[in-house]
Parts: sequence; structure tokens; C-alpha cells
Amino acid sequence: MTTAKSAFWQKIVDEAKDENGNKRPFFSMAPMEAVTDTIFRRVVAKAGGPDVYYTEFTNAASMVHPEAKFSVQGRLAVAPGEKMPIAQIWGSKPEVIAGAAKLLPEMGYEAVDLNMGCPDGTVIKNDAGSDLIRHPDRAKALIAAAKESGLPVSVKTRLGFYKVEEYHDWLTMIFEQDVQVLTIHLRTRKEMSKVDAHFELIDDIIAMRDRLAPDTLLQINGDVKDYEHGLTLAAEHPGIDGVMIGRGVLNDPYAFEPGHQDHTLAESIALLELQLDLFDEVNKTASIKNFEALKRYFKIYLRGFPHASQLRQLLMETHATDQVRALLAEHVGDLLQTPAR
Ligand SMILES: Cc1cc2nc3c(=O)[nH]c(=O)nc-3n(C[C@H](O)[C@H](O)[C@H](O)COP(=O)(O)O)c2cc1C
Repeated sequence: MTTAKSAFWQKIVDEAKDENGNKRPFFSMAPMEAVTDTIFRRVVAKAGGPDVYYTEFTNAASMVHPEAKFSVQGRLAVAPGEKMPIAQIWGSKPEVIAGAAKLLPEMGYEAVDLNMGCPDGTVIKNDAGSDLIRHPDRAKALIAAAKESGLPVSVKTRLGFYKVEEYHDWLTMIFEQDVQVLTIHLRTRKEMSKVDAHFELIDDIIAMRDRLAPDTLLQINGDVKDYEHGLTLAAEHPGIDGVMIGRGVLNDPYAFEPGHQDHTLAESIALLELQLDLFDEVNKTASIKNFEALKRYFKIYLRGFPHASQLRQLLMETHATDQVRALLAEHVGDLLQTPAR
């Protein structure tokens, strides 16, 4: 069974062009819990940004529960003018997934992604995330339920739960569901992120897709460092439609920028200042963010120059954005004397 690509995904494919106007795979920033919120997505956009963003994963049960609705609001918040991300949701009950997916269009979402790869014990205990690899019939029902929303449905998953070889049956089942995009994190649940991603399987998975679901876009994920690395992989494995990058962005906020361009420390500090400003902006709304959670970003922006770790240590002692700004103001003169990274 095949269905035409949705207009949403077709546009992303059509607009993915390199600097010379040649077709290239689309790039996305991976959904990352407590990272890829509206604040960080906008900072990454400033640093070059991918073609597609995903929200943090959101519990479908909370979305449809009258009392829990509030707790997930922040995860799905999108700022005016921000490129609309894809909503990633997780759950185990078809009626709950259908209910949650149907709420998304009125929030402005144009596509939904189902999490079928999360290795977290709590999510697995809830019969969701990577547990679905062990329960393909349930996974199948969830995909059908999400389609009730009328939104294009994609799936992000891993190769298997215990063993790599599980991908033969598991991905066959997913391809047979005619999803718009399959994002494959090239590891099993058991492997967590402890072993190298299985790039050696990419060609076989492309062949499966070509045979079973030629209209499904295939997006690879795992250990891709940056844009140039993604292009190299796509050239080595013709048939890759998309490349998703997660931790690469935490190492380098400019990961989606073509070429390996040098950036000054002043530019990195400007990104941190943007993060602080957007944090304050979001905290004026209903979805309050915890200041402590901001601290993980200090090392993303402030690294690779002399005294970076001393400055980060000082910043770790702060308790408010104004304290961070004051410290930056105090040290910025000295810092900018240091060479570009
Ligand atoms: C901090 C963090 C949070 C994550 N949260 C999610 C999530 O909410 N949903 C999801 O599908 N994957 C999540 N992942 C997995 C990533 O999306 C991605 O599959 C994984 O990091 C491998 O890609 P990478 O090597 O490019 O980072 C998370 C990963 C990290 C590091």
C-alpha cells in the first residue's frame, strides 16, 4: 500500500538544497527531552539551524488528561514566528494517541512523530517507547490511531530491543504501515548509546524501504556530528532522505551550518545571551522553566578557549539570568582578547 507524500514533507524534501542549489538530504534536530524546547530551537536557528525541528517527547496521556494538560504545555509551546516543529508524542493506548494527535492541529502543528525508541525504564514500564519494538501489534495500532488526526505521521525508532537483527521484522512492519518518515536511530535499546551507530546497516535498510515502501522517507540518526558528516554519509549511501542530529548540536551549536566555519567567542557569547533572553521571555508566560536547567547550556556556548572552564565554574554558582549577565559583563572584555576558536 502506498500513499503520496504529504504536502508537508514534500515541501521539506523540495526545499533541501545545498549552497549551489543542488538537492541534498534534509537535516533535522533530534527531539531531546529537556533540551529542544522553544528556547533552544530558536538559539539553534540563529546559529544556522536545520530544515526541521522536533519538540521534546510529550506524554500523550497528559495531553488528553484534563488535570495534566498544564504540565505538558511548555513542551509543546512554540513562539510566534518560530518555524513550526514536529510534535513528538509517546504513549501506549491507541485511543490516547488518537486523542492527543487530534489536539495538535489546533495548536498549529502540521505533523506528528511517534516515539518508538525511548530506552528509559519509566517509559518502557508504561508499555511505550522502545517497548513497542517488543509489541509490534500495539505499535501498528498506534500508527493507525495517530493517522486519525489527519496529520502526516512519522515514526522514530531503534533497530531492535535486544538484538540488531530484530530490525528485519520490526522495520518491515513499520514500512508496511505506510508512514511518511521512518527515522532510524541505528542502535538497539540494549545498546543505549554505548556502541557506535550501525552505519553498516544503512544500505540494507534503504533496500528494504525501496522494496516495501518507496514513498516513505528514510531519515538516519545516531553519531552524526554535523552537516558535512551528514552529507558524506548521504553520498556514501544513496537513498538517505534525511539526517537527524542530536548530541552533535550539544557539542557545536553551529552543527547545521554548511562548511566548517570559524566562529568567534563573541558570537558564542551572543548565543548564550540569546538563550538567557529567551529564557526570561518564556518565564513570563504560563510555562515556567527551571533556572538550574539552563546550566547545561553553559558548556555548549563557552568551550574551546582559555579560561573557559573557570568561567563556567563561576556561572555554575549563579541562580538567576541577571547574575549570569553580570558575570559575562565582568569577564567579557578579558574573554574577547582570546583568539577565535
Ligand atoms: C538529552 C537527550 C534527550 C533525548 N530525548 C529524546 C526524546 O525526547 N525523544 C526521542 O525520540 N529521542 C530522544 N533522545 C534521543 C535522540 O533523539 C537521538 O536519537 C540520540 O541522541 C542519537 O542521536 P545523536 O547521536 O545524534 O545524539 C534524546 C537524547 C538525548 C541526548
